[in-house]
Amino acid sequence: MTTIAQPVVREPLSRDLAAGLDLATIRADFPILAERINGKPLVYLDNGATSQKPQVVLDAIVNYYTHMNANIHRGVHTLSVRATEAHDAARQTVRKFLNAADTREIIFVRGATEAINLVAQTYGRVHVGAGDEVLITAMEHHSNIVPWQILCEEKGAHLKVAPINDRGELMLDEFAKLIGPHTKIVAVTHVSNALGTVVPLRQVIDIAHRCGVPVLVDGAQAVPHFAVDVQALDCDFYAFSGHKVYGPTGIGVLYGKRALLNSMPPYQGGGDMISSVTFAKTTYNDLPFKFEAGTPDIAGAIALGAALKYITNLGMDKIAAHESELLAYATEAVGAIPGIRLIGTARDRAGVLSFVLDHVHPHDLGTILDREGIAIRTGHHCAQPVMDRFGVPATTRASLAFYNTFAEIDALAAGLGKVKEIFS
Ligand SMILES: Cc1ncc(COP(=O)(O)O)c(C=O)c1O
Repeated sequence: MTTIAQPVVREPLSRDLAAGLDLATIRADFPILAERINGKPLVYLDNGATSQKPQVVLDAIVNYYTHMNANIHRGVHTLSVRATEAHDAARQTVRKFLNAADTREIIFVRGATEAINLVAQTYGRVHVGAGDEVLITAMEHHSNIVPWQILCEEKGAHLKVAPINDRGELMLDEFAKLIGPHTKIVAVTHVSNALGTVVPLRQVIDIAHRCGVPVLVDGAQAVPHFAVDVQALDCDFYAFSGHKVYGPTGIGVLYGKRALLNSMPPYQGGGDMISSVTFAKTTYNDLPFKFEAGTPDIAGAIALGAALKYITNLGMDKIAAHESELLAYATEAVGAIPGIRLIGTARDRAGVLSFVLDHVHPHDLGTILDREGIAIRTGHHCAQPVMDRFGVPATTRASLAFYNTFAEIDALAAGLGKVKEIFS
């Protein structure tokens, strides 16, 4: 018989200092973490949907609009120069964060979704034709499925899907078998938002490159959790969203290898992406501007730069170590509750604990936890094929950030205990 785990209430600070992060100080950097929800301290475990913002990010936005608001690249006046320099500096910060070789490989977009659509609509349109194939995996977020479906439909191409096993791990042998002479691009997540699975990207990319196929990586759920080095990975494209990595909404990044980006047609037409325009012919700007039509989210890019500097200063290795301990603790505490079924038990996971509780609809569970001040996400997490694979309509997902504490995991486990009592 299984017994309900009684998670030991830890000394949060001594544990949280062990990973080298001073969580009390760090949490004070995030004003929203002091909010009370329904009279209880906020326990924010919905970081996979969006993360909270440190004061330096809020300050960067206010500072931009207070001291430098002007359009970039177009003015000789002081404010425009300030804004342009700050925007350029943010691109440099992103380049360093991903260890890209060149700032021209960093394209600012609205988020991971736009980054993937950009590649599908430019690289994809040129290279994918009738009878060709696009290879994805069974654990993709809808934003790494639908853009390829739209492309395949338009071109008469086929979407191939590499399967995952019962743990939610990519089946590499099957993946390798699905790459063939018609495969034009592989698009794969780095970390699954619904399962937390970390995909062995080096192996995936090696397999694809041996067949001459480029790889786009959806890094939306990876960059908040551990250091990513696009040169070491040798990926061809890497996409992420600013708001999941402690920056604001409305800004994101597409990294692409320079030669590939240069060979691609523009995505959208408009100001800034041109070199010269006549009614007879338009020539396009150099990278990265060729892919950045119109006035960008200037404040967003600058604030994203502030967020990336903030986490880099904390240390991505410390963040990864703390979150890994936290996830192991959460997996043990939640997994031991009778009636809980964990969805996604990959050996290598980051940031996400997904589960269902017998006879309780995830929506009800989420509502009851909210009464306790605990924010988690319930639903299909924009990954309906993952839900189908595991035979569930929805899951409850707790997703972690480095500012989460062991005491918050205890609160989650206690909250789940209350849910069970209500439904018993
Ligand atoms: C794995 C993954 N890819 C892509 C996205 C899309 O991100 P956005 O909505 O910020 O474009 C998400 C968002 O949840 C995600 O988790």
